[in-house]
Amino acid sequence: MDQAVILAGGQGKRMHAPIPKPMFKVLGEPMLEWVLGACEQAKLSRICVVTGYEAEQIKAYLGDRCETAYQAERLGTGHAVMQALPFLNADTDGNTLVLCGDAPFIDSETIADSLARHIKERNAVTVITAKVPEPFGYGRILRTDSGIAGIVEEKDATEEQRTITEINSGCYWFRTPDLIGLLGSITNDNAQKEYYLTDTVAIALKNGLRAGAFCSKNPDVVLGANDRKGLLTLNTAARMAVLEKHMANGVGFTCTDGIIIERSVQIGAGTEILPGTILRGRTVIGENCVIGPNTLIENSSVGDAVKLNETQVYDSCIESGVSVGPYVHVRPGSRICSGAHIGDFVEIKNSEIGEGTMISHLAYIGDSDVGKHVNIGCGVVTVNFDGIRKTRCTIGDHAFVGCNTNLIAPVSLGKECYTAAGTTVTEDVPDYALAIDRGTLTIKEGYTLRKFAKK
Ligand code: UD1
Ligand code: CA
Repeated sequence: MDQAVILAGGQGKRMHAPIPKPMFKVLGEPMLEWVLGACEQAKLSRICVVTGYEAEQIKAYLGDRCETAYQAERLGTGHAVMQALPFLNADTDGNTLVLCGDAPFIDSETIADSLARHIKERNAVTVITAKVPEPFGYGRILRTDSGIAGIVEEKDATEEQRTITEINSGCYWFRTPDLIGLLGSITNDNAQKEYYLTDTVAIALKNGLRAGAFCSKNPDVVLGANDRKGLLTLNTAARMAVLEKHMANGVGFTCTDGIIIERSVQIGAGTEILPGTILRGRTVIGENCVIGPNTLIENSSVGDAVKLNETQVYDSCIESGVSVGPYVHVRPGSRICSGAHIGDFVEIKNSEIGEGTMISHLAYIGDSDVGKHVNIGCGVVTVNFDGIRKTRCTIGDHAFVGCNTNLIAPVSLGKECYTAAGTTVTEDVPDYALAIDRGTLTIKEGYTLRKFAKK
């Protein structure tokens, strides 16, 4: 079977954080996730990730998604692949793709096309290469008239070799039995005293095996990050690629400042995204919406013709025709049904808000089921937590909840009922009733005149 080994043992010292380099995120996902995703998309189902630095973090992330091997010391890329020998020996039938866990832009098309060439040319090893304007730091591809002759690392290269602009992406296809054989012949006789996987090319040729180079159409396959600045470069490239894809699908951006949209997000045509908007995870947005400015949506679905202004939405559903904001927080487990209006400084948590309901300002609705065409006045609070338990409130269709009403959960308001402003509701209110809770208002004439005259 064709399979993949992803090298993810490196530390990334210049990141200055105790995180393995492949776990640093590009557009919200670890670089390792990008590489794994490309392998999975290319239908490589046997995958082994070689861990090293802070291995537990990678293992915790992967769970039982694929196998791992552990490299106790960083002795080079060849040494890293040697740690995966038990994985390789378990299936020696097909070809093995070796990739770097910190070069996120390898794509399934490059993987598939390079495998096709690898098989067609009957190579023991096929190196995926790219031509780049700034080859500094990368292994250079040495060519002869008949093909590839080897790879020389920056630190081992001559002045002349350093001018070569075709570089090693760090991804290679090997015929699995040949890879196992070649690993046994690598030494660490070089400037960095490391076991270079790249040496397999020259060794293969010396042993009479065939080696090839597949120059990728997509030069970004080589891009990696050695420091925070490099990571920003990757984020910028990924961010713009996603925005361009949405623009091609009819999504509007007048200005892309501060707009970050993760790869997994779907957006319908005619929707306008305004500056400062961050769309994450499994978020799906319909057509003809206006999202932003300064809006964050995570793992949520948004219908058509929705307006979300200065709003944060997490793990919730907002149906078509809803307008929300500014300054609204929709917390997990909420559903805001079609045509509802949620105005400024409102927080909604784990609640359903019925069709056409208005919550225009300064309210907290938590753990509640609010019916259709309800009016929630300014300052209404569902008192859903008694310090020990959280309980629910229910509000019937067409209810009118007066300003500064407190609903002490668990309590329900019937349909078409009223609560007077300032009422604290501690028992259920039946349909069509008015709940009013008022002390007698006392007015003391001339009070301040007397108070200050005394002084
Ligand atoms: C390597 C290649 C170079 C290529 C470049 C592409 C070698 C000798 N050189 O160089 O030709 O242009 O990648 O990015 O292979 N890793 C381990 N254990 C180790 C060493 C590395 O797991 O002992 C992992 C790293 O986490 C990383 C990958 O292998 O994911 C590449 O290692 P890195 O040190 O970045 O290799 P380069 O020196 O950049
Ligand atoms: Ca590197």
